[in-house]
Amino acid sequence: MKNILITGSGGFIGSHLTEECVKRGFKVRAFLHYNSSSSRGWLEDSVYKNDIEFISGDVRDYDAVSSAIKGCDGVFHLAALVGIPYSYVSPLAYIRTNVEGTYNVLQSSREYNVKNCLVTSTSETYGTAQHVPIDEKHPRNAQSPYAASKVAADQLALSYYRSFDLPVKIVRPFNTFGPRQSARAIIPTAICQMLKGQMELKFGNLSPTRDFTFVKDTVAGMIAIAQCEKLNGEEVNIGMNQEISIGDLIQKIAKLINTSSKIKQDQSRVRPEASEVQRLLCDNTKIFKETNWKPQYTLEKGLTETIDSIAKSLHLYKPELYNV
Ligand SMILES: NC(=O)c1ccc[n+]([C@@H]2O[C@H](COP(=O)([O-])OP(=O)(O)OC[C@H]3O[C@@H](n4cnc5c(N)ncnc54)[C@H](O)[C@@H]3O)[C@@H](O)[C@H]2O)c1
Repeated sequence: MKNILITGSGGFIGSHLTEECVKRGFKVRAFLHYNSSSSRGWLEDSVYKNDIEFISGDVRDYDAVSSAIKGCDGVFHLAALVGIPYSYVSPLAYIRTNVEGTYNVLQSSREYNVKNCLVTSTSETYGTAQHVPIDEKHPRNAQSPYAASKVAADQLALSYYRSFDLPVKIVRPFNTFGPRQSARAIIPTAICQMLKGQMELKFGNLSPTRDFTFVKDTVAGMIAIAQCEKLNGEEVNIGMNQEISIGDLIQKIAKLINTSSKIKQDQSRVRPEASEVQRLLCDNTKIFKETNWKPQYTLEKGLTETIDSIAKSLHLYKPELYNV
């Protein structure tokens, strides 16, 4: 694998992945969501921007995806609508972007004989843990239209492996955090509410637990899985096998920032009960067994790097716009 296409490369995980792949010597074509201002998202000011080939388009558009994949032997597909609350408002948009977008990537990869097609799933496809830790055999249980769209995309990808022998791998990150993540996610929203000096911090449900991986470790896991000789037609979790409740996580961040703000549950941010995923804890046995992945970040180390990064660009964050 030498020439790769990365969809969603202007986004949070995609921009880190794009930069890491350039650093490792891949020839990277970055697929950006078309916009009239030609913004490159988080790659706008990247130190690597002169080493990246940028292409704009829409993953819902077969022609755009197909011409972007032409000439590539590897694809990392990350482009997606990712916010759970917005998936309650516009479920069809999630089907079009996440399912049809994945179809366009799979079918184009088939058309151009791509040797390595990596599709990005999510731990949300498991729903609340029915056993812990959650291994790849855990049942799928979509509790939001977002999760349902990702289950559908994963199944389509696996069907392309089984029906057409397309070399597809599914990577399934558990919650990822780090610099550049939008305030729609819990860690950036907590950090920027605290850094903006709010005395009362507002959050949704504080009791669910999650397994957080720092973005550089997630990206290293994705590359390790892509480079593994085996794993075609398989699903692989990426996570730390450590869980923390949202309430304890917020306390931890408050301690690192040294704030005495009060934490308050805001009813308008609480998700419908049956839609709230109560517990996610990753079984990472498979990635450790099949690859040489070694996470480099503890939760504390990753949080410290994230706080420093958000502090430098606090004006870009508007936590009041999101119901996290
Ligand atoms: N962040 C997490 O905790 C997490 C966990 C598990 C899985 N994932 C998955 O990782 C991937 C990246 O997520 P992220 O957190 O970086 O989110 P993000 O919103 O920062 O990135 C998504 C990217 O997709 C692009 N995109 C959306 N619609 C598009 C379209 N129609 N055409 C072209 N591009 C489009 C966006 O512009 C953005 O760059 C997603 O597939 C997501 O489901 C994320």
